[in-house]
Amino acid sequence: MPVDHPRTPAGPPSTVVPPRARVVVLISGAGSNLAALLDAHDDVAYGARVVGVVSDNPAAGGLAIARAAGVATAVVAPGDFPDRAAWDAGMAEAVRVFEPAWVVSAGFMRILGAPFLARFEGRIVNTHPALLPSFPGAHGVRDALAYGVRVTGCTVHLVDAGVDTGPIIAQEAVAVADDDDESSLHERIKSVERALLVEVVGRLARRGLETTGRRVRLG
Ligand code: GAR
Repeated sequence: MPVDHPRTPAGPPSTVVPPRARVVVLISGAGSNLAALLDAHDDVAYGARVVGVVSDNPAAGGLAIARAAGVATAVVAPGDFPDRAAWDAGMAEAVRVFEPAWVVSAGFMRILGAPFLARFEGRIVNTHPALLPSFPGAHGVRDALAYGVRVTGCTVHLVDAGVDTGPIIAQEAVAVADDDDESSLHERIKSVERALLVEVVGRLARRGLETTGRRVRLG
């Protein structure tokens, strides 16, 4: 007996858009890496969406960039907390409310404490302006220049309890010019760094990563 299948009324084709991974960006300063992520996240195919920006510094230029893009911001300044443990808890809570899949430290100039790391374990990435494990810390560009290396660069890595010691996700090299000073070298590194960070965050959001010991493979 013929079966009469009900017909779906014709309408415009519908596209199923997969949910984008929620990303919180931590900043302390100018926020040019944040700005690059915000440029990328408007494209749904990018896979990541910056849902919040958290800073330890109320004067961070990146806060205005976030607000102009319509992204929520929070300031968790150490001076507003009685001690380090309370600040750590404040940071963890400020980020938690955004329910991020990934936390991206992009020019965030403080060490994240154990409670923060425990809450977002394996989901925090940092960008650093040197080829780790060389020149970790707050002055990666200055230290590389003073050492006299001819090639430096940038590193995007997972955050662990050490200072810039977590497993490396991606790196790009930048040549040092004879007449470089810290500022000229840092600007050249930052232009490479922004592209690398945007690529890594998008790939993390779309396909995650695999780790084997210290070796990381982006999905
Ligand atoms: C970036 O170069 C980042 O790697 C560096 O601060 C700069 C922030 O620039 N971070 C560190 O040195 C952390 N140790 P931005 O505020 O313009 O994105």
